[in-house]
Amino acid sequence: MEIKLTENQNPRHPPEDDSKLGFGNVFSNHMLIMEYDKDKGGWDPAEIKPYGQLGLEPAAACLHYGQIVWEGMKCYRAKDGLRLFRPKENFQRLNRSAERMCMPSVDVEYMVGALKEFLKIEKEWVPKLKGTSLYIRPCMVAHETFLGLHKADKYLLFIILSPSGPYFKEGFNPIKIMVEDKYVRAAMGGTGEAKTAGNYAASLKSAVEAKKKGFSQTLWLDSIEMKYVEEVGAMNIAFVIDNEVVTPELDGTILHGITRKSVLEICKKLGIKASERRISIEEVIERIENKSLTEAFGMGTAAIIAPVGSISYRDQEHIINEFKVGLIAKQIYDELIGIQYGEKEDIFNWIE
Ligand code: COI
Repeated sequence: MEIKLTENQNPRHPPEDDSKLGFGNVFSNHMLIMEYDKDKGGWDPAEIKPYGQLGLEPAAACLHYGQIVWEGMKCYRAKDGLRLFRPKENFQRLNRSAERMCMPSVDVEYMVGALKEFLKIEKEWVPKLKGTSLYIRPCMVAHETFLGLHKADKYLLFIILSPSGPYFKEGFNPIKIMVEDKYVRAAMGGTGEAKTAGNYAASLKSAVEAKKKGFSQTLWLDSIEMKYVEEVGAMNIAFVIDNEVVTPELDGTILHGITRKSVLEICKKLGIKASERRISIEEVIERIENKSLTEAFGMGTAAIIAPVGSISYRDQEHIINEFKVGLIAKQIYDELIGIQYGEKEDIFNWIE
């Protein structure tokens, strides 16, 4: 695939010390960008340009009415080259999110091909240290200028690249989370399962309050009864109950996590029982207390697998597995990162 390239005339070097990488703070020299105009028949071919300003006008629709969808995926450096983890899934999910937000879809095969070309140009930005990766952020925004409330006919899609380390300062160690019983993240019929900016904006108030109290993340409940567990701030959630991995079913308000899906597939392979079902916060707390719930962990692209050491509900902290990483979470984590870093056979064909 041929993609027009305008080289960055002031290139920077990738960070030298991978062990100092945080999450999403450093960006590579270029961005991939493409424009959509309904009146001109759709998407223009992708171009690669120096990373920089988008040139949005103040009246750009995304700034007012929030037509913004995005994705998060990762490229890992293995001994035998670069490994892109399930990119088609991400572009398919981008299309699902876009459909909900009245935005145009992209051709998944074309996007994966264009991304691979982009990565060839920026390959030196994929960090080398195990535990680090190149975080890839595709984002689509409405850039048509108007103030009446209606869907836009002009969009920009850009992809930026960020060499990143662990999402949580704790690394692969248990985090503390807090059950949110005042604010809600998503309502039935709303945009909860779309990866759209507004969902994340709506989550910030709770995240700020949780952080002030010393928690890493918020555990969201359903908006109708404030009873059923949905997801954690930046991830899906799973519990281990009587040796079975249980994760809330996808009911329209929960993000269709690609790591979540991968975890369920890994469980099948490892012979670990797994199910998707509604699970109430009362059940979670009761089972932590009677010790039939032995592990909890978050699952997400940025965070990979994040063990949960305690859940606080109505100001009461409930410690899980003595605040230690659980065996099942560790087994799943090892399998997942083994495939991502090329140390285990990719029996699922996840790597491109
Ligand atoms: C991701 O894992 O890509 C996410 O969506 C989390 C994001 C909030 C950093």
